[in-house]
Amino acid sequence: MEKTTSSSSSSSSSSSSEKEKEKENVKIKKKEALGWMEWLRGWMYVAQEMLFQRIMASHLQNPLPLPPINELTCIVTGSTSGIGREIARQLAQAGAHVVMAVRNTKAAQELIQKWQNEWSGMGLPLNIEVMELDLLSLESVVRFAEAWNARLGSLHVLINNAGIFSIGEPQNFSKDGYEAHMQVNHLAPALLSILLLPSLIRGSPSRVVNVNSVMHYIGFVDPEDMNVVSKKRKYTSLVGYASSKLAQVMFSSILHKRLPAESGICVLCVSPGIVQTNVARDLPKIVQAAYHLIPYFLFSPQEGSRSALFASTDPQIPEYCELLKSDEWPVCAFVSQDCRPTNPSEEAHNIKTSYEVWEKTLEMVGLPLDAVERLLEGEEVKCRYGVSE
Ligand SMILES: NC(=O)c1ccc[n+]([C@@H]2O[C@H](COP(=O)([O-])OP(=O)(O)OC[C@H]3O[C@@H](n4cnc5c(N)ncnc54)[C@H](OP(=O)(O)O)[C@@H]3O)[C@@H](O)[C@H]2O)c1
Repeated sequence: MEKTTSSSSSSSSSSSSEKEKEKENVKIKKKEALGWMEWLRGWMYVAQEMLFQRIMASHLQNPLPLPPINELTCIVTGSTSGIGREIARQLAQAGAHVVMAVRNTKAAQELIQKWQNEWSGMGLPLNIEVMELDLLSLESVVRFAEAWNARLGSLHVLINNAGIFSIGEPQNFSKDGYEAHMQVNHLAPALLSILLLPSLIRGSPSRVVNVNSVMHYIGFVDPEDMNVVSKKRKYTSLVGYASSKLAQVMFSSILHKRLPAESGICVLCVSPGIVQTNVARDLPKIVQAAYHLIPYFLFSPQEGSRSALFASTDPQIPEYCELLKSDEWPVCAFVSQDCRPTNPSEEAHNIKTSYEVWEKTLEMVGLPLDAVERLLEGEEVKCRYGVSE
């Protein structure tokens, strides 16, 4: 009798614990996409930027006046075209030492020649140089960082601008095996930012500025499926692009948290607006023609460079980043196309996923999980993609 009672009580307690477990499972059931309200709100942000960016940014001058920056050394990735080209030119003309980190070094040399000619007679020659960097190869990123760090100089601003949006193209993978948008727009810049920490520490106060996009509002990242190959989500170039931009915000938020205030390094993301550049080079010709027919709504590359230039040079930025850090805010600073601080997407505030994206990213780029802490301690950190490995 006793046994029965105890067995019935144990069976009822086991069934209730199963129910508890089930409830738990439902509670922690993995989110597999944006909720439709989040998705709709995301598209509203995109539409708002597309239609009203010019009105929202009407208080800004063009070009954006820059404070004195003669002492600054800035690396600008993807500076042969579009927004990056404008960022590099304006920083150099304002007196900074600019390093164009590009895959097409010949095009960059030709641009420098052109800018020097235009600038001649207006002041000292521009202090600008070229270094090779191909973000589709993590080995190239390590080579670039090693070459730069070996100079033992200071780096004040790293601008991760280079990016791709292969609109309408089938899914592509880098030779490292990663989805191309994810690699160029997120993984490679993340590796670069971490490997350059020794130089950013020497240049402190310093900044890492990521040229992000309003498209991250419609992005969703599954840390278990960064390459979008599991078939849980159908791959499109839009999914690839938006996910990579959201992954960058999430990773940057954790990097921002991991860097103590004493390091003096700020991490920010910016939205340049919707800008008329070569980013649409993969669109069908007819769509490209339509794209160029709406110049009133689109920013010129000079207008699109303002948020990155603001984030790179405004003297109040370090204070703002510190404020976010002391408030334990879940995301890093995000500067909108009108140079105002704004909130990234709801999904970007998902701190649990951000930590998962952080860990997954470090694993994918071949760095140990404590890479940042070790670099801050002055230790050497090896990357799996290093040539000597
Ligand atoms: N245009 C917009 O409306 C818009 C909106 C939001 C965000 N953004 C972001 O703004 C940034 C700049 O884009 P953009 O509009 O100026 O486009 P863009 O004119 O196409 O310029 C992109 C730059 O990235 C470089 N790049 C591409 N793949 C690279 C690789 N594997 N390694 C090294 N560099 C590489 C390109 O070099 P090559 O010249 O050698 O190809 C080019 O210099 C991107 O991050 C983009 O996502 C743009």
